[in-house]
Amino acid sequence: MDSVRVGLLGLGTVGGGTVNVLTRNAEEITRRVGCAIKVTHASAKDLSRERICDISAIELTTDSFAIVNNDEIDVVVELIGGDTLAKDLVIAAINNGKHVVTANKALIALHGTEIFALAQEKGVMVLFEAAVAGGIPIIKAIREGLSANKIEWLAGIINGTGNFILTEMRDKGRDFADVLAEAQALGYAEADPTFDIEGIDAGHKLTILASIAFGIPLQFERLYHEGITEISQEDVQYAEELGYRIKHLGIARKTPAGIELRVHPALIPEKRLLANVDGVLNAVVVQGDAVGPSLYYGPGAGAEPTASAVVADLIDVVRNINCEPQHLIPHLSFQSSSLSQEPILAIDSIVVPYYLRITVADNLGVLADVTNILSSQGINIEALIQKEPRKAGTAVDVIIITSKALESKLDHSIAEIENLDTVIGNVNRIRLETLG
Ligand code: HSE
Repeated sequence: MDSVRVGLLGLGTVGGGTVNVLTRNAEEITRRVGCAIKVTHASAKDLSRERICDISAIELTTDSFAIVNNDEIDVVVELIGGDTLAKDLVIAAINNGKHVVTANKALIALHGTEIFALAQEKGVMVLFEAAVAGGIPIIKAIREGLSANKIEWLAGIINGTGNFILTEMRDKGRDFADVLAEAQALGYAEADPTFDIEGIDAGHKLTILASIAFGIPLQFERLYHEGITEISQEDVQYAEELGYRIKHLGIARKTPAGIELRVHPALIPEKRLLANVDGVLNAVVVQGDAVGPSLYYGPGAGAEPTASAVVADLIDVVRNINCEPQHLIPHLSFQSSSLSQEPILAIDSIVVPYYLRITVADNLGVLADVTNILSSQGINIEALIQKEPRKAGTAVDVIIITSKALESKLDHSIAEIENLDTVIGNVNRIRLETLG
């Protein structure tokens, strides 16, 4: 075989990056693989748009189905995104016996089960390294490098846009909306940026990570996700005073009762490496029973970092192209017949410490009322700050760090605290993760 022919669906940021990496590193890649990998065809919505790559040797079309139905193409790379058209194209490509590489986390998180079953039936590969944490080879690390371990938990910053926003808010005191607009202009944010800030994008990625870590089916519908829109400048500063940073974390943890699968803002001790992952960078800590904790860090978005993962998958496809399907690495790391049915736990059954910001009238006995409510639920206070009122008689912020508590008990306490006449507005609660 002289070369493997690739059809690219989507020629935007990641598509352009993929062409550039394949072209620039063609010699190295051929030395690694034993034959050339060539993008021969590509589809794009608007053929007249300016590109970041040289497309002179690529046959272009607006019809993506013409590519998945083209007999000359060996591998289809899906970079369109979304889970409707992209799904139809990937299913058609597999039905046509083509291998697929995709960077599409929503597609895998929502439809991976169906896609992998079809791929197995047709004896083709579907690889998706770029779907999680951009250029960090976290799928390969968990699926292959850590396959000797029982994975106990993993926690990650897996959305670059959200991390960029929280970093800029902390470092420069910038406004949420202003930083989000910059992330969009830089091409980090999803087409619908609510996916970034509401934890949906991170949820898709966490769904995939949890499946390959624990050998469970993909279950995005059972994941808990909470966004970063309620994080205020005050929270960022109070957390800092207490020795913590606020990060938007994806956490998957195996417990005797089931699996925690949750994305939400979290306070983490500032000395943890994860607390110091800034800007658009991503990082994932994986705790394995044999290896202990290991950290994977790098760029989670952007043209060439994502292309790095796409091209690595293409290389894997070509290296394994003559392999008997039953000898390929299972899509979700575990044999599909051996996936476990452990339940995904509801968020109110988790047990973690909490940060609470309570705005109260500066009256005698308010603090006692709040602490009595917490103690009546058996919730201990680990740290407490009461700010001086800016003017005598005005509202003050009370910041509390609790010991570990069952979330349903904390919910109950928060409802009671919010009912006090002296408490103004809602209690802001942020979960705390020691990552120990
Ligand atoms: N919108 C995503 C992010 C892109 O900000 O991380 C990479 O998946």
